[in-house]
Amino acid sequence: MKRAIEQLQDDFLSSEQVIASQHVMGLDTQLIRDQTYFMVLLDGTLAGCGGWSWRATLYGGDTSVVDREPEALDPAKDAARVRAMYTDPAFVRRGVGRMILTLCEEAARTASFGKTEMMATMAGVPLYEACGYAPIERVTSAPINGVTVPLVRMGKIL
Ligand SMILES: CC(C)(COP(=O)(O)OP(=O)(O)OC[C@H]1O[C@@H](n2cnc3c(N)ncnc32)[C@H](O)[C@@H]1OP(=O)(O)O)[C@@H](O)C(=O)NCCC(=O)NCCS
Repeated sequence: MKRAIEQLQDDFLSSEQVIASQHVMGLDTQLIRDQTYFMVLLDGTLAGCGGWSWRATLYGGDTSVVDREPEALDPAKDAARVRAMYTDPAFVRRGVGRMILTLCEEAARTASFGKTEMMATMAGVPLYEACGYAPIERVTSAPINGVTVPLVRMGKIL
C-alpha cells in the first residue's frame, strides 16, 4: 500500500500532492474486521488488495483526516462502497485491480446492492473508467499542510 501510494501516483499528482495523499488514503481496518477486504496473491506474493463496504464511509484509512461513518447503508437506495484499492508496483497492469473490483461488485450484488461508488484518486480513475465507472463529482481534500489532493467520486450501476 505504501509503495503503491508513493510510486504509482507520479503521473497524476505533484510530489507535494503525493505526500499529502498519504493523509487521505490507506488501510481502513474496519474492512478487515468486516471481512470485506480482498488480497490477491501472485506467485505466492501479495500483489494487491482492495475491498468493498456496506458502511457509509466513502474513503480514507485509519489515520486519515477523513471522517469515519460506520452506519450501515440501505441496499435498496444506497450505493455500496469500493474501498482502498492498491496494487504493488511490481504487479501493475496484470489485471489485479480489475480482478479485485470484480470481486467487490459481485459481493455487493450478493448483498442486494444495485450500485457501487468510490472516491477515486487520480491514479485510480483509469482503472475505474475501464471498468465502467462514470464521474459523479470532482472534489478536493481538505488542505494538508497547505496542499490539497484532487479526488473524484465515481459510480456504476451493477
Ligand atoms: C489504481 C491501481 C489499483 C490499478 O491497479 P492495476 O492492478 O495495475 O490495474 P489493472 O491491471 O487491473 O488495470 C485494468 C485496466 O485499468 C486501466 N489502467 C490501470 N492502470 C492504468 C494506468 N496507470 N494508466 C492507464 N490505464 C490504466 C487499463 O485500462 C487497464 O487495462 P490494460 O492494462 O489491459 O490496459 C494501481 O495503479 C494503484 O495501486 N495505484 C495507486 C493507489 C491508488 O491510487 N489506488 C486507487 C485508490 S481510489
